[in-house]
Amino acid sequence: MAKTKTTYFCQECGYESAKWLGKCPSCDTWNSFQEELVTKTKNPGPEWVTGADSKTRKPVALSEIEIHETTRWSTGSKELNRVLGGGLVPGSLVLIGGEPGIGKSTLMLQVCLAIKGRKVLYISGEESAQQIKMRAERLGKVSPDCYLLTETTTQDIFKHIRTLEPHLVVVDSVQTLHSTMMESTPGSVSQVKQCTAEFMQFAKSSATPVMLIGHITKDGAIAGPKVLEHMVDTVLQFEGDRHLSYRLLRTTKNRFGSTAELGIYEMMNIGLREVSNPSEILISQKEGDFSGVTIGATMEGNRPLLIEIQALVSTAAYGTPQRSSTGYDAKRLNMLLAVLEKRGGFRLGLQDVFLNMAGGIKVIDPAVDLAVCAAIISSLEEIAISDKVCFAAEVGLGGELRAVNRVESRIAEAEKLGFELIYISKFGKKGLDLTQYNIKVMPLGKLSEVFEALFG
Ligand code: TYD
Ligand code: MG
Repeated sequence: MAKTKTTYFCQECGYESAKWLGKCPSCDTWNSFQEELVTKTKNPGPEWVTGADSKTRKPVALSEIEIHETTRWSTGSKELNRVLGGGLVPGSLVLIGGEPGIGKSTLMLQVCLAIKGRKVLYISGEESAQQIKMRAERLGKVSPDCYLLTETTTQDIFKHIRTLEPHLVVVDSVQTLHSTMMESTPGSVSQVKQCTAEFMQFAKSSATPVMLIGHITKDGAIAGPKVLEHMVDTVLQFEGDRHLSYRLLRTTKNRFGSTAELGIYEMMNIGLREVSNPSEILISQKEGDFSGVTIGATMEGNRPLLIEIQALVSTAAYGTPQRSSTGYDAKRLNMLLAVLEKRGGFRLGLQDVFLNMAGGIKVIDPAVDLAVCAAIISSLEEIAISDKVCFAAEVGLGGELRAVNRVESRIAEAEKLGFELIYISKFGKKGLDLTQYNIKVMPLGKLSEVFEALFG
């Protein structure tokens, strides 16, 4: 007999309570409790997930466990392989989050179409089969190994999976799934949790990788409880500015690899294109040198990335000067302005300062500090800096240049892209053989020395 009861769940963290609460005792969020109908059937065994009886499971010695397939397999997309840590791990559960319309469905469909020689099942609860076929035709060749299922009830899904036996399952999206184990509506905390748990059981028991698409809330977290992120093996975030064509795929959790990886795509009218040399697109093609434009050598994960930084300094016309930054921390900009004022003697107090990281990229790497300072002073003094010069150093409160990590990769990337000169901190050159590069490396200790070299 099914037993029905209503329970209140915190929509933020999944905390369960018998009565409504104004504030969640677990995550301190206000007004986050919602009533959900929960029906638990007696003995909720996983038979219909795995086709096996759970009672037969016994503890086994670690040494006796057989590994189905140790090798990761390639998804056919270099960028996706990179963020996954080298490819798909059999039996792994991957969650992909991102804002609506950013391209999650497009990315996953493209991955399904690119996989060769393996059966892939794309389950969609969001679009009809015709819509998906239309999109697939636009994206490229429709592969005969790609199967489509428009079903949302997990019990039926697993039935189809058992007959098809795919090598990869993609679910678009976890919020549309519905398990008959729970009576609450699709997308509610208890449903999302339950359906994810079922897919996890399926992935682990059959060694089939599963990729779940998840919606995100307005503050950018994956909708549904935080526990979802604990349950899955890998969490990927697909992000980017909707008005710009670049899309970044970041790893925020990975049980099988580093979380420092980044994949870059460009949204085109024929789907997503992988960007294998991001620096080239982040540096604009322009004629002549402009003041206020510099190139900073940042790292995104393990990848060096040269990015164009633009600053505009102009006299504040209306009282309080404005400071505005896009893609760069506003507080850090204020700090650098104070350092320039105090240590460099530049009068920036009455100037509007606008800062922009090109390409809609958000930069948190402090190694762009020096490039930011140079862009601001270049704009203030209206002296252009050659586009063959780039920078990689953090700026301290004393106006000193601080060493940055992996400076050799940054120098190598700048060299590869044809830069002629890179400014770094002299405290970071230990162990570096500056003569091995085809680019001139200038190790300096203070901001003032950089300005001396740049502007004389
Ligand atoms: P979609 O994958 O549906 O986003 P999500 O699943 O994250 O909600 O992507 C939709 C957007 O992508 C849509 O606004 C149009 C754009 N798009 C292209 O620009 N080119 C294409 O070839 C495709 C398929 C989509
Ligand atoms: Mg979608």
